[in-house]
Amino acid sequence: MKNTLTVTDNRTGKTYEIGIDDGAIKATDLKQIKISDDDQGLLTYDPGFVNTASCKSSITFIDGEKGILRYRGYPIEQLAEKSTFLEVAYLLIHGEIPSKSELQEWVDGITLHTMVHENIKKFMDGFHHDAHPMGMIVGTLGALSTFYPDAKDIFNPESRKKQIFRLIGKMPTLAALSYKHSLGMPYIYPDNELSYTANFLNMLFKPSPSTRYSPDPVLAKALDVLFILHADHEQNCSTNAMRSVGSSQADPFSAAAAAAAALYGPLHGGANEAVVRMLEEIGTKDRIPEYLEQVHTHKKLLYGFGHRIYKNYDPRAKIIKEMAYKVFEVTGKNPLLDVALELERIALSDDYFISRKLYPNVDFYSGLIYQSMGFPTSMFTVLFSVARMAGWLAQWQEEILDKEQGIARPRQLYTGIPLRNL
Ligand code: ACO
Repeated sequence: MKNTLTVTDNRTGKTYEIGIDDGAIKATDLKQIKISDDDQGLLTYDPGFVNTASCKSSITFIDGEKGILRYRGYPIEQLAEKSTFLEVAYLLIHGEIPSKSELQEWVDGITLHTMVHENIKKFMDGFHHDAHPMGMIVGTLGALSTFYPDAKDIFNPESRKKQIFRLIGKMPTLAALSYKHSLGMPYIYPDNELSYTANFLNMLFKPSPSTRYSPDPVLAKALDVLFILHADHEQNCSTNAMRSVGSSQADPFSAAAAAAAALYGPLHGGANEAVVRMLEEIGTKDRIPEYLEQVHTHKKLLYGFGHRIYKNYDPRAKIIKEMAYKVFEVTGKNPLLDVALELERIALSDDYFISRKLYPNVDFYSGLIYQSMGFPTSMFTVLFSVARMAGWLAQWQEEILDKEQGIARPRQLYTGIPLRNL
């Protein structure tokens, strides 16, 4: 078998042989296909990067048709069952499951960086009381770059390690600050005696510094599993933003602010918020057909359904659905669960969804869990961003070390007026 592609340009009758590597042709190999010497060469047109690989990556593997998700080769189901979020974050960033001593050093490094500079609290105070917490995360992540000018030293492995500790360590703190700010309640400092997610719950739900509060271990574990499921998802919109900004050699705090901004949108990380709002709008099971009628006529989306890559059940949705029942044992059943289950049942037998291969995605049930745990809907995407920071950093570091990567700068097909004079 020859690993090449033979292309004939019917405009000129010329034939070209183009190499195929890892199942792809190089877009720059098409440049040689020209109709004249001053022609810039053939481009590919791919709005939304539907069929364009922007990088080679050894972090996350997805087979959307088969519903497979693996981090560094390990199936997501096994990681969700047997690992912790911080182990998975290490795996994503370093490529291997940590040994006992590596894990200890990793957890210590992250735990030591959970505090934020006191000025970040003042910065947070500047936001309006009803500012969306995701906007606060985007803003404070960008602001953090000004606190750590050493983060610009991106080719220094020791500096990168420190920024990774800082970003993974500080994300729960920033998220909790944004939440407490929106309530007008006192900020709770990190407690380094607690696990990553127990500390997070403590900073969020401890009513005041003077009140006793013990995070429920079942809820801390559930959040940990949800974080594992959300930790990476190869070249999704926010990761692409992280890599795109990272490609200009900006520091990782600035790149992470861009990634968080991309995650904010309702077609990406904002979908779990949109799912709960949709379920609340539907309200009762008898109103489902009326809602679906509007979906059929393209007036509404069924949020939490469909995925650019998964054209089969999203494997994360299965784990989350099972997790929902464990959480509801502690919190009591979310009244919207019945609407969600019935909506899923009807949609899975509805030709509109079957013919378009639209199945529940990770967000269909995660919002219900978060709501039952006491999070307001505006915090859902923030939770996603805490988890996804691990993936953003793994992808950013891979990019920094990839000799083939340069500044991300796509081409365009100019369709405007060729030339005019004033
Ligand atoms: N509800 C109703 N119709 C849908 C939905 C949906 N959730 N998703 C796709 N469709 C329809 C489209 O209208 C289109 O129909 P048409 O062929 O009649 O025009 C067809 O299915 C194909 O949809 P595309 O938008 O081309 O699919 P794409 O792969 O570009 O979009 C996306 C994927 C953005 C996730 C889409 O499915 C969507 O908007 N889903 C709802 C939002 C959501 O749940 N996002 C979370 C994704 S997971 C994540 O980011 C963590």
